[in-house]
Amino acid sequence: MHLKTKDKRWRVLVTRRIPRAGLALLEPDCDYHVLAEEGLPSHEDVVRAAVGVDGIISLLTERIDAAVMDAAPGLKVIANYAVGFDHVDLAEARRRGVLVTNTPGVLTETTADFAWALILAAARRVVEGDEEVRAGRWRTWEPEGLLGVDIHHAVLGVVGYGRIGQAVARRGAGFGMRVIFHDPGEQESVPLDDLLRQADIISLHVPLTPATRHFIDRERLRLCKPTAVLVNTSRGGVVDQDALAEALAAGTIFSAGLDVFESEPLSPDHPLCRLKNVVLAPHIASASRATRDRMAVMAATNLLAALRGETPPNLVVRP
Ligand code: DGY
Repeated sequence: MHLKTKDKRWRVLVTRRIPRAGLALLEPDCDYHVLAEEGLPSHEDVVRAAVGVDGIISLLTERIDAAVMDAAPGLKVIANYAVGFDHVDLAEARRRGVLVTNTPGVLTETTADFAWALILAAARRVVEGDEEVRAGRWRTWEPEGLLGVDIHHAVLGVVGYGRIGQAVARRGAGFGMRVIFHDPGEQESVPLDDLLRQADIISLHVPLTPATRHFIDRERLRLCKPTAVLVNTSRGGVVDQDALAEALAAGTIFSAGLDVFESEPLSPDHPLCRLKNVVLAPHIASASRATRDRMAVMAATNLLAALRGETPPNLVVRP
């Protein structure tokens, strides 16, 4: 029975600080504990803090697995503050009747904007140019200095044609691009290998699942044009990062823009950090004030609905 008695308040763990807009919604009915006001809690800290809670709001940085669920036998909901949920053990949640929710839709346009920030920066060498100016290495206008690749009228290949993939494609129309996409669920889907052979700009928008881990591997990178630009704002594990670093170093692909990495934070010792033809961002594609607030409201709304025994609006696991 989910109904709250008059004097009972739900116990909620919020693994890390989220915007106030979400926390405010919890206040009337929940005693919530924000585990980490700053930085990253360890897995052990999360397990300890989960003892006895009714609900968890977690971030993509925390592994929510059987150990966390064991600590909270009365757990009703894991409300994920992200659209991607590869860090939550869905099978384990389903087995225990724990609902899992996410935050789709509210971050679509913001993430698509940022994919374009990376496309433009990687294709037109914006970061390299910025570094030259700051370091005093900019001597003069040069006919062949910092040459990039054109975006206008190029072929945009979108891998994963869901909400965000489509939003990226819509923006491509403004540049007069021909858009092709790979998404087995869609009628006009182009085989992935054909897309990689044809596209000038490749933008990745697939969730990380066992089937998409290293979707873009060494062999597939070999299919890309030497002038191609690869952008990833989905999950790092979708790309074989070491193989990409090799391709970029060898110049078999022109450049890349990456917001996500196989292991985050990316170690500054990783070969990618020594390359000039890659733009690296610290997983900030959804990071606008308005969007992060909306994500907080959505996560809290999902959590409260589940605690009240209602069907949360954004359910990814239905027991
Ligand atoms: C998500 O929501 O999955 C993004 O990676 C962060 O907003």
